[in-house]
Amino acid sequence: MIFTNENEFSLPLRVFMISQSDLLKMILEQFKVSKTGVHGPSHWARVKHHGMVIGAKVGADLEVVNLFAFLHDSQRENEYSDPEHGLRAAKYAKQLNHVFFELRYDQMSLLTKALEGHSMGDVHTNPTIQTCWDADRLDLGRVGIKPAPEFLSKEGQKWIDFAYEWSVTGKVPSHHEVNS
Ligand SMILES: [Fe+2]
Repeated sequence: MIFTNENEFSLPLRVFMISQSDLLKMILEQFKVSKTGVHGPSHWARVKHHGMVIGAKVGADLEVVNLFAFLHDSQRENEYSDPEHGLRAAKYAKQLNHVFFELRYDQMSLLTKALEGHSMGDVHTNPTIQTCWDADRLDLGRVGIKPAPEFLSKEGQKWIDFAYEWSVTGKVPSHHEVNS
């Protein structure tokens, strides 16, 4: 599955109380680091793509994965070392829930765990949380790092070469083959 237009990128939409593009606009208005930098919206879009593809295979909660993509780096204060940015993102997500989107308690619990832990280098047994982390780690090629299989799920490992090429070139690879 490759997303080729904005409508596909805007799925899933069930949880939103405003349009996803308005939510994204609001997140970007408060975003403190470069919108064209390595933690900006082009990274979020690739994270979303990887998360939707992997999440659909492993039975992850795609609403949670979708929100993770747009929120996980939204509270960064710099592009380098910012170990608290995941904790701030989780706090921000709690402020937005019931106002701009509506996640159930169990979904919020998964989202906050995924946000809080996403840069700690852990792996998780929960498929939704690990899908979020897979999706973020698969885009490490943008900072010159090839994603390491030991930090990815079995499904995520299949996408290393595809994701790396996308991160490095900035273009969706035309081939769809994945590692077996
Ligand atoms: Fe990220």
